[in-house]
Amino acid sequence: MQITIDGKKINVKNGITILEAAEKAGIKIPTLCYHPDLKPEGRCGICIVEANGKIMTSCNNKVSNGMIIQTNTENIKKQRKINAQLIGCNFEKEEEFRKWLALEELPDIDELKFKSKPSELIDESCHDIVMDFTKCIMCGRCVQKCRDLQTVNAICYSKRANGTIVGKSLGKKLIETTCVGCGQCSLVCPTGAIKEKEYIEDIKKLLKDKKYHIIAQTAPSIRVAIGEEFGMPAGSLVTGKMVSALRKVGFDKIFDTNFGADLTIMEEASELIDRIKNKKLLPQITSCCPGWVNFIETFYPEMLPHLSSCKSPHQMFGAILKTYYAKKVGINPKNIILVSIMPCTAKKYESCREEMIIDGVKDVDYVITTREAAKLIKSFNIDLSKEEDSEFDNPMGKGSGGGAIFGTSGGVMESAIRTAYYFLTGYDYPKIEFRSIRGDKGIRETSIKIGDTKLNLAIVHTLSNARKVIETIKKNPNKYHFIEIMACPGGCIGGGGQPKPTTRDIIKKRSEAIYKEDKNLKIRQAHKNPQIMELYKTFLDKPLSEKSRKYLHTNYHDRSKCSR
Ligand code: SF4
Ligand code: SF4
Ligand code: FES
Repeated sequence: MQITIDGKKINVKNGITILEAAEKAGIKIPTLCYHPDLKPEGRCGICIVEANGKIMTSCNNKVSNGMIIQTNTENIKKQRKINAQLIGCNFEKEEEFRKWLALEELPDIDELKFKSKPSELIDESCHDIVMDFTKCIMCGRCVQKCRDLQTVNAICYSKRANGTIVGKSLGKKLIETTCVGCGQCSLVCPTGAIKEKEYIEDIKKLLKDKKYHIIAQTAPSIRVAIGEEFGMPAGSLVTGKMVSALRKVGFDKIFDTNFGADLTIMEEASELIDRIKNKKLLPQITSCCPGWVNFIETFYPEMLPHLSSCKSPHQMFGAILKTYYAKKVGINPKNIILVSIMPCTAKKYESCREEMIIDGVKDVDYVITTREAAKLIKSFNIDLSKEEDSEFDNPMGKGSGGGAIFGTSGGVMESAIRTAYYFLTGYDYPKIEFRSIRGDKGIRETSIKIGDTKLNLAIVHTLSNARKVIETIKKNPNKYHFIEIMACPGGCIGGGGQPKPTTRDIIKKRSEAIYKEDKNLKIRQAHKNPQIMELYKTFLDKPLSEKSRKYLHTNYHDRSKCSR
């Protein structure tokens, strides 16, 4: 086969690595952990190159026909330097480390930027994830998720040889690392060394306290996943059973976050139209995934003006519950406790943000994951799979099909387009389903014509793909008008708080169940939800009104230099 390496065309044998091919072409790539007699593991990142536009280690990646490789671009040199600095973080003395680098003919580091300290084995510093490395068996699954899937690198291998351990980057407290709380590490950890911070006991205590009116809201992706915790097949749609089980647990009311999702669409579609009509900054990027919001605040703060100002559906729901609903039923909002049952660990931190407190009242009091909700239900000896169906409570218990599909990658975009189309033209798009938006590819691109306007759209899941799309926008700001980004594979159905295991196959089945729910609903567009229409008529007035902005919108912060 033929490849091009630093502009030179050479013929190479199938199956050799990029490093071996470079050697054949007489090009030296620096290496560190690589040894010709050992299986290359790609640990140190010194041998990185750019192959077909992607950065990868050359010692353990093979060539493919027609591959174009660059071994020494400015970007590669910069990245190699950072990797060398990271390797040196255990060295006490900078001079000693630099001498050693020179001896090994490795790139100099300018300065030793990072300092490691012994990592604490038990870390409870975050609102969302807890780590107890005394239970770690070093399988490395979490590192792969954090490094490769999410490109966050908050956890990594540290120390070398026999002393290698998995720990937090540079031995920092988790809250001081770049961790975005996505929980993908907890989803694959086989021993429970990494898991979500649990709030089940606090909720059980509150359920006994008659002073409080305790409400549960359930996200769109819970009803297609929680059945698995009770032995049901993946993709079982258990909405009615879930509501009954939660009622038995003792919640005063069970409401539907799909209502909040519809509300998000009313605001987000209006924001998109406002940006287009008034020539404001585009592309607009969705903001309902808190893992993604943490990521952009940490890694790309300069791109924050692109984020929609909409709060996520469960936060919008909370703000309306503690105002509109509280007034309707005559209860002091301070005596209402809202528990959000979510597929997500990052929502735990989101609910604690200062921006999510209005007039001294928190939108959401507790967030528990699907796994925690199942544990809570089981602790009352309730078998959800045997429950009869029952209905959500009102007046915040109805969601449209547009709200239902929020749980899967592409759902927010499809729902927003269903409503934006109506807002712009005054009539519905002839086909309610936008098939070109659906699928499981990590980055999907499509376009749609609304009247005279052609909208270029992108749908993205996982943070490694988000990073690629953000880099694309930085180079080509006019490429897209609207982008949906979700941190977890498949969107919320693959969220870090979902039942274990969550595999590609299982995610597919959960997604099918979500689309089935949408198909079965009579009302499939957010703007046709009668409870939402009533809310605007009697409380909010209209999307983007003063009240809507106060309760349903927020702002974001540069967190590149500070922790969460
Ligand atoms: S929660 Fe996400 S970002 Fe944080 S350590 Fe785990 S995988 Fe990495
Ligand atoms: S997934 Fe769990 S057991 Fe495996 S390396 Fe990570 S913390 Fe250790
Ligand atoms: S030499 Fe260490 S990753 Fe290739």
